[in-house]
Amino acid sequence: MENATPRRVEHQQTDRGYVPVYATGVVEQPWDSYTVTDHEVWNTLYRRQRELLPGRACAEFLEGVERFGMGENGIPKFADLNDLLAKTTGWQIVAVEGLLPDEVFFDHLANRRFPVSWWIRKPDQLDYLSEPDLFHDLFGHVPLLLNPVFADYMQAYGRGGMKAFGVGPEALMNLTRLYWYTVEFGLINTPDGLRIYGAGIVSSKGESIYSLDSAAPNRIGFGLERVMSTRYRIDTYQQTYFVIEGFEQLFDATRPDFTPIYQRLAAKAPHAAGDVLDADRVFNVGTREGWATNADT
Ligand code: PHE
Ligand code: CO
Repeated sequence: MENATPRRVEHQQTDRGYVPVYATGVVEQPWDSYTVTDHEVWNTLYRRQRELLPGRACAEFLEGVERFGMGENGIPKFADLNDLLAKTTGWQIVAVEGLLPDEVFFDHLANRRFPVSWWIRKPDQLDYLSEPDLFHDLFGHVPLLLNPVFADYMQAYGRGGMKAFGVGPEALMNLTRLYWYTVEFGLINTPDGLRIYGAGIVSSKGESIYSLDSAAPNRIGFGLERVMSTRYRIDTYQQTYFVIEGFEQLFDATRPDFTPIYQRLAAKAPHAAGDVLDADRVFNVGTREGWATNADT
C-alpha cells in the first residue's frame, strides 16, 4: 500500500459504533461520536500517567508528550497529531479497529504509518484490558515517533517484518519477541538510572511502578539474539525486562541482515521468560515473587 491517505470505501456498523472504513482496515477516527465518558476515560488515564511518569519514563518519551500538547482536554484528534508528525519525522497515525494481521501491520510500519485503535476502554477497564485500545496505542506508542532514531527503528522493524514473514513462522516469532521486549516492554539505562520507554509499560499504571521498583522481575542488558530467543508473558507483568543503553544501540544492533540469525535460532530451544543466563549483564536478578508457574508464550 503506497497511499498515505487511503480512500474511503464504505461505512461499517461495528459493535463499537458506525465508522467510515478504508481499504486494509483503516478507518476514519470517528471523533464526533466519542461520548463524554470516553473523553473522561482519556483524561483520567492521562492524568494518572502524567503524574507518575516524570522520573520513570525516559526524557524522549516525556518530551514527545509535551510537544504533542497531549493533556486532559479529551481524546486528541489524530489529524492534529499528524500535522506535527508530518513536520518532524514524517510518520502518520492511522485509525484502525484493533490488532491487524502481521503483514498488514508490517506494511503500515514500513511506510511510516502507525495504526492506532480508534476506540477507548470503558471506565471499569482503567487498570487492565486484554487488547490494545486508543490509550495504549496513542499515549504509549506515538510520543516516541517524534524521536528521529526511534522513528527510523520502527520503520526498519516494519521492513524486517515483511522479510521475516517470507522466511516463515519461526522467524516471525523471533521478530515478535524483539518488538515485545523493546517497543512494548523496554527499559533504557540513563545517567539518572533506569527509565521506561516501552509502550506497554508507560500506558499501564501498575507496570510503570512494577517494572522499575519491584524486586520480583529480572532486569537484564539487551542483547539481540538473547531477546529474540526469549519467550514472554501476555497475561501478567513481565518476568524479565531488557535494558538498552540508548536508541542508537537498538538501531545499530538491528541493522545486520537477520537471515543467518533466524537460521541459528531455529536450531536452539528458546529461553523461558524468567531465565537468567551466565552471559547476561544483570541489573537485577528477580526474586520471582508472584510469578505465574504455568508456561509462558
Ligand atoms: N535488519 C533486520 C533484517 O534484516 C531488519 C530489522 C530492523 C528488524 C530493525 C527489526 C528491527 O531482517
Ligand atoms: Co502496543
